[in-house]
Amino acid sequence: MILAANLKVNHTRTEIKEYTKSLETSLTSKKTKNEVLVFPNISGLDNYKVNNFTVGAQNAYPTKSGAYTGEICLEQLEHFDINTILIGHSERRVLLKESNDFIKQKFEFYKSKGFKIVFCIGESLDIREEGISKIKDFLYSQLDGIDLGYDNLIVAYEPIWSIGSGKTASVEQINETLDIIRTKFSSSLLYGGSVKATNIKEITDIKNCDGVLIGGASNEVKNFIEMIELI
Ligand code: PGA
Repeated sequence: MILAANLKVNHTRTEIKEYTKSLETSLTSKKTKNEVLVFPNISGLDNYKVNNFTVGAQNAYPTKSGAYTGEICLEQLEHFDINTILIGHSERRVLLKESNDFIKQKFEFYKSKGFKIVFCIGESLDIREEGISKIKDFLYSQLDGIDLGYDNLIVAYEPIWSIGSGKTASVEQINETLDIIRTKFSSSLLYGGSVKATNIKEITDIKNCDGVLIGGASNEVKNFIEMIELI
């Protein structure tokens, strides 16, 4: 199983250092068979010399360096030996108006650099209410033009209506939707959206679920560790 913590814009740099230190200590003493990823905010990025998990970036501009005020890009990630990235998170799609085309550019660029890419897709509540065939069309359109045979690809299905809302999709909804996505490719497939200690087991037991992307419930390192140990 893959367990990924999306820390969003929470914690200071000092707190992220403490977070990574506690996680490393815990995973050193209690080995896990799970693959663990942590995505801190930009100011928390560093060259963490950890052996038991991977630190990735929540976002980066698709270029080596240049005039892109407010962004970070390849040069800064390379400096920290970071080669894992989250692309297409719904908060960037919705709040920052990132288009499918721009997200595809990021995918292409970081794929060309060999990055491990956690590529996020997910429908809004409006689309969910239109039924499964509309959901399918929508999710497929988000995957359109993405090289689904890329070795270092992980797809995260995160219905927008369940992110940060406390409203997890039901096991039936997740199962049905992951089945639909699974027909498109064979690499790892995650679910994200209000995953927590009380529902992680039933979600990771779903046939096509290879892991979870966890936001709020991973904010406190002890809760994230607890979830890693549950799986
Ligand atoms: P959540 O966030 O677990 O707080 O719903 C998930 C995510 O945004 O990746």
